[in-house]
Amino acid sequence: MTEIAYLNGEFLPLEKAQVSVLDRGFIFGDGVYEVIPVYSRRPFRLPEHLSRLQHSLDAIRLGNPMADADWTRLILELIGRHTGEDQSVYLQITRGVAKRDHAFPKDSKPTVFMMSGPLVTPSKDLVDNGVPCITAIDYRWLKCDVKSVSLLGNCLLRQSAADAGAVEVVLFRDGCLTEASASNVFVVRDGRLLAPPKNHLILPGITYDVVLEIASANGIPLESRIIPEQEVRTAQEIWITSSTKEVLPVTTLDGRPMGEGRPGALFRRIYALYQHYKQTVMRRAA
Ligand SMILES: Cc1ncc(COP(=O)(O)O)c(C=O)c1O
Repeated sequence: MTEIAYLNGEFLPLEKAQVSVLDRGFIFGDGVYEVIPVYSRRPFRLPEHLSRLQHSLDAIRLGNPMADADWTRLILELIGRHTGEDQSVYLQITRGVAKRDHAFPKDSKPTVFMMSGPLVTPSKDLVDNGVPCITAIDYRWLKCDVKSVSLLGNCLLRQSAADAGAVEVVLFRDGCLTEASASNVFVVRDGRLLAPPKNHLILPGITYDVVLEIASANGIPLESRIIPEQEVRTAQEIWITSSTKEVLPVTTLDGRPMGEGRPGALFRRIYALYQHYKQTVMRRAA
């Protein structure tokens, strides 16, 4: 079936969507993006995604080409043009086409691109048995709170996980946990849920916020604080979270079992609460 994309004001078949080789997204990775999960044809936490998009645009000094109401309308239209119940909407804005020069062009028009595909959440097997992860030094830049399309660092790190047969790579900067190549990381120690603080070293994950909200609403003790590497390695549980992975338990780190080497009790509780929350929110939106 032909996939429909959106490019600069028009809907068209994905394979027909083309941008110039001089687009600054292609030349410099000069752009930002969002990935929005869609359940039962309804975008999940759309206002939060649009607010993070604004944060990213502000950080790279690029004006938002549309008001939130227009984004919402276009995203709903894109979803409507696809048949899947659960989708993953990808949107990207670059600084547009200009003669190659590092400094910003004075009068380029941003390139706006969107596509949607099936949302593939982790299988029951992964949720029930957990996933292997490796670790690495976080050598990315110091603006990891910007959801930039310049993802070379993340790609190299993720490939090192793939090479090792692992699902993700858990990152440490200056001896402390940051996040993973495409997910946030949570740690459980002594019944407490620990999360690295939201700052320039991690992407402020939408799923990260959902997990913290659910934990807080259910009386699970939590702390948002700097987490030394040693506390990660000796934790009872580690989870990774993202819009497409939702919440996934890490059962081995660098080949060594985490806790008992099985998804922990707190993970199972949060996972059930997360699924319940999703259904409630989606029902309310219906
Ligand atoms: C580097 C990084 N951290 C965290 C996340 C999780 O963010 P979210 O929960 O909004 O998907 C992502 C998602 O792609 C990511 O790329």
